[in-house]
Amino acid sequence: MSKEKVEIFDTTLRDGEQVPGCKLDTKSKLEIAEQLDLLGVDIIEAGFPISSPGDFHSVEEVAKLVKNARVCGLTRAVQKDIEVAADALKNAKRPRIHTGIGTSESHITHKFKATREEIIERAVKAVSYAKTFVEDVEFYAEDAGRTDNEFLARVCEAVVAAGATVLNIPDTTGYCLPEEYGAKMAYLKANVKGIHKATLSCHCHNDLGLATANAIAGAAHGARQIECTINGIGERAGNTALEEVVMIMKQHPTLNLYTDVNSRMLNHLSQLVSDRMGMAVQANKAIVGANAFAHSSGIHQDGVIKNRETYEIIDPLEVGVDQSAIVLTARSGRAALAYRAKNIGFEFDKLQLDAMYEKFLIMADTKKEIGDDDIVELMKQI
Ligand code: KIV
Ligand code: ZN
Repeated sequence: MSKEKVEIFDTTLRDGEQVPGCKLDTKSKLEIAEQLDLLGVDIIEAGFPISSPGDFHSVEEVAKLVKNARVCGLTRAVQKDIEVAADALKNAKRPRIHTGIGTSESHITHKFKATREEIIERAVKAVSYAKTFVEDVEFYAEDAGRTDNEFLARVCEAVVAAGATVLNIPDTTGYCLPEEYGAKMAYLKANVKGIHKATLSCHCHNDLGLATANAIAGAAHGARQIECTINGIGERAGNTALEEVVMIMKQHPTLNLYTDVNSRMLNHLSQLVSDRMGMAVQANKAIVGANAFAHSSGIHQDGVIKNRETYEIIDPLEVGVDQSAIVLTARSGRAALAYRAKNIGFEFDKLQLDAMYEKFLIMADTKKEIGDDDIVELMKQI
């Protein structure tokens, strides 16, 4: 069976930027957009143009700059939003308007104080209006994760008939379980008339730590677009992490899915976004965390020194990290000490290593980590 492509929709500059206190200026947004384009993402959601003049300007500039990816602007199902987004995107080579409305009972009753029929009507009106400006219109059913599948299918069918090219099924509150989210996609694929005319998209939040698992379950059940952010940043606990879904598809050939992302740029993008946002990446973050390729316990270090694959499923070079790190701590063994000493040009026979290791353990008990300078100091002592 030949592999199928999953489009990567990066929303670092829109949903990602909704992190409290992590505002990006236009210059940083342009820098990130340019790198995302080089990374090979298919769509860049550049912002929410009606939200502020600054955001409008950023979307306008990103639209002018980006060469390959589609550039997308978010709107509510409101005419003025759509007009402003179309204006911000007018210079994009491949513009997309992303419009939508809440579809769960909670959104319909509390947020919109409307009926289900009225929601469908507003959704169709928004998509039809957006279609008068651009060909490519993505529709989001906000809180789809908590929307019953039958109603969700009715909404989807109506907006596809109105010309929606992509159906975004957000788990806005990060509530779904992977089986549930996967089943939702399968249900829509099987029950929405005209579904072959649109691409199903996963947009998962991480409130229960399931954003990546849900997005992958969605793709395994027929979604062909995943919405995600660099480092998984975003509202509350964040969004699906781009680097995670890309590497999962790469590491698991049985999924039969691929992306066009150049994984060797992932570490660079992670650091760029972290730096421009002033938001550190947690050390144990999958793929891009400082400890993702670091080994500190003696048993693991010995295994990795003998054969990297003993404790690593990804070659660090694949994601743009130079090499696995052997971190010297009080849990490290002789093999790790000899390995690190060799890296800075020293080799020992067995007796020397035993003596050195004894001193090393004493020093390691007083320090969190032993560095190259400390190794030289230990050498002096023996
Ligand atoms: O989480 C969400 O529902 C969203 C939509 C606005 C697409 O970000
Ligand atoms: Zn979101």
